Amino acid sequence: MNRLESDEANGYLLWPVKKSFREYIAALEDGSETVEGGAVSADGGFVFAECESTGFTDDGSIGTIRYGGGVSFSGYGGMLSTRLFEPWFEIDGQQARMSVQTRGGSHPARQVIATCELPLPETTTELVVWRDAVPLLTFEGVSLFGDVYQPGSALDCLTLSRGRRRRETTQADG
Ligand code: HEM
Repeated sequence: MNRLESDEANGYLLWPVKKSFREYIAALEDGSETVEGGAVSADGGFVFAECESTGFTDDGSIGTIRYGGGVSFSGYGGMLSTRLFEPWFEIDGQQARMSVQTRGGSHPARQVIATCELPLPETTTELVVWRDAVPLLTFEGVSLFGDVYQPGSALDCLTLSRGRRRRETTQADG
């Protein structure tokens, strides 16, 4: 892994998860949502910082972006426990597979919880940004949310980005 220069901009993931789910948790007597590992809760949703981008092709259309940090939801004395940690996006053209770590501790488990159709990205000096992509739940994603939503149903839309200079450095370092 390369070391980042201080002037390199990091990409980020902005994702509210699902408004109705968060309202449901908030209404539970013991419901809570907790951010960890550098993720923050902001107005437009949770913000996760880019940790690394790997395997990007020269045209930037295929590769994986890995974000750090996570959010967990709990309630019903711990019977409800949903962890969304370290979101990764495996991008292949206009399709992306979104996976998260759903268990902590010594037995982590990464699950592909959603697929997204991506818009064409916007490119700024620092970032490549895909705005307002809608994640659609996979079967694994359905079970993570207690088998309440249907497969293919939408979570809230997300914006993801990756740092451009950082990608170039990563490629140069192999
Ligand atoms: C003690 C066991 C549980 C009980 C009694 C329970 C009860 C309920 C009830 C009554 C609703 C409807 C709420 C509403 O419409 O306002 C609901 C919704 C929901 N529950 Fe549970 N639940 C339980 C466990 C779980 C677990 C373990 C999960 C796993 C994540 C879960 C996930 C959900 C989800 C995703 C919704 C839909 C929220 C939405 O988007 O509106 N529940 N539950």
